[in-house]
Amino acid sequence: MKKCAKLEIFSHSVVVLCAGAGTRMKSHTPKVLHTLCGRSMISLILRESLPISDDIHIVLYHQADKITDSIMREFSEHIPSHIHFHTQDHKNYPGTGGALMGVKCKYEKILVLNGDMPLVRTASLQALCARQESIVLSVFELANPQGYGRVVLDSKKGTKSSPQVQAIIEEKDANAKQKAITTLNAGVYVFEKSLLETLLPHLSNTNAQQEYYLTDIIALARDTNLLKKCKITRAIDIGAEFVNSEEFMGINSKAHLADAQEVLLARLRNEAMQKGVRFDIPQSVYIECGVEFIGECVIENGVRISGECVIEDSHIKAHSVVESSTIKRSDVGPCAHIRPKCEIIDTHIGNFVEVKAGKLNGVKAGHLSYLGDCEVGRGSNVGAGVITCNYDGKQKHKTLIGENVFIGSDCQLVAPISIESSVIIAAGTTVTQNIPSGALAISRTKQSNKLGFFARFFGGSK
Ligand code: UD1
Ligand code: CA
Repeated sequence: MKKCAKLEIFSHSVVVLCAGAGTRMKSHTPKVLHTLCGRSMISLILRESLPISDDIHIVLYHQADKITDSIMREFSEHIPSHIHFHTQDHKNYPGTGGALMGVKCKYEKILVLNGDMPLVRTASLQALCARQESIVLSVFELANPQGYGRVVLDSKKGTKSSPQVQAIIEEKDANAKQKAITTLNAGVYVFEKSLLETLLPHLSNTNAQQEYYLTDIIALARDTNLLKKCKITRAIDIGAEFVNSEEFMGINSKAHLADAQEVLLARLRNEAMQKGVRFDIPQSVYIECGVEFIGECVIENGVRISGECVIEDSHIKAHSVVESSTIKRSDVGPCAHIRPKCEIIDTHIGNFVEVKAGKLNGVKAGHLSYLGDCEVGRGSNVGAGVITCNYDGKQKHKTLIGENVFIGSDCQLVAPISIESSVIIAAGTTVTQNIPSGALAISRTKQSNKLGFFARFFGGSK
């Protein structure tokens, strides 16, 4: 991760709410650690938030240790300088409003995000931050508003494109008329810090879930008696920013997670195509956020590329799987499995070949092989059915193969083993000793043909 630009002038603190139990996910994994295209929800959110602020607070409670560990591993260089952890007093103050209590922000404006909105992007957050109202709410329209807070807009105040907000009513507390409202709370807010700090202690939990809802801050900011009591003499400006419903979608279940991943996948594939990648059937290809394409690549249908990968000027054929590897100027598959830590350069990998932690440079391995923990040099040919026996039941061992080595079909190379350059290994050989340069290695029992055996065995004339 790159550090925040030193000269950046920030004006907003960011608070990400991640303390909920996430019960609707029905999972042992904390909600914000569920992944889309290889990145956790909280990782995606932090990556989009870091360009906006150097004062980011993550509110935790349920499974706090797991979430902290994951963030510490990925964003270590931003901790504690830019990213801070806060524990919610969940026992006494449950709910999204309770989550904000006690968070100490550096800037006068606070951008608050639910931790379960993994698709939000920096530019949209910046648009919210650019608004001048005391409170800004992200809203969208959906034909099926199920699960979202309903936003009551004030038709008399504000303009049509920038209406004023009157209240947010949670679905569980809404009457039939309110439930029919299709303007919904997307779950990202900007607050003036002083106003938020003044109103937060006045939240109550007299609602269906007996929680302190952050969304009730809107009604409090509209309560003139309360404002007077708090010595706020001005009317509070509460604006609504209409946002893209796909980008601001909240994840409450595994079905939502699958929907959101589809959106992210389409983004990643589009970015790749803009860089010159050709997908035969784009929607059949799974790629992750850490995959980098360089040059002109062709990706056939049903391919899965995961982890941190670099794919340069290569052709990955149908139904192949590539994990955390580098592939340059090579063709792979169909139905090949490139497992982590491979470096495959100027190489042809054919069907049903599995490679793991293999460095292959200028190699042909056309069919049905397992090449694990190995290095294979330029000009070498790996025949069908060749297997590196890299595991002795206790430990993994390496196989080193030099340049211009011809390995016949169905050979077993029992590691640790070293095969020097310019060597021929006869088909069916089990290699258990190192082979010096220039040699032919052969280990087979001599063939004998028993004439007439077929007829003696099965009966008949042949
Ligand atoms: C919330 C909003 C709803 C909005 C929707 C948008 C409230 C009361 N409701 O509903 O109006 O339409 O988001 O997606 O805010 N969390 C805490 N502490 C808690 C409870 C929750 O930090 O005590 C965190 C959760 O981890 C989660 C986020 O707040 O990341 C939102 O909580 P969630 O339960 O998903 O709220 P929704 O019911 O989706
Ligand atoms: Ca939610």
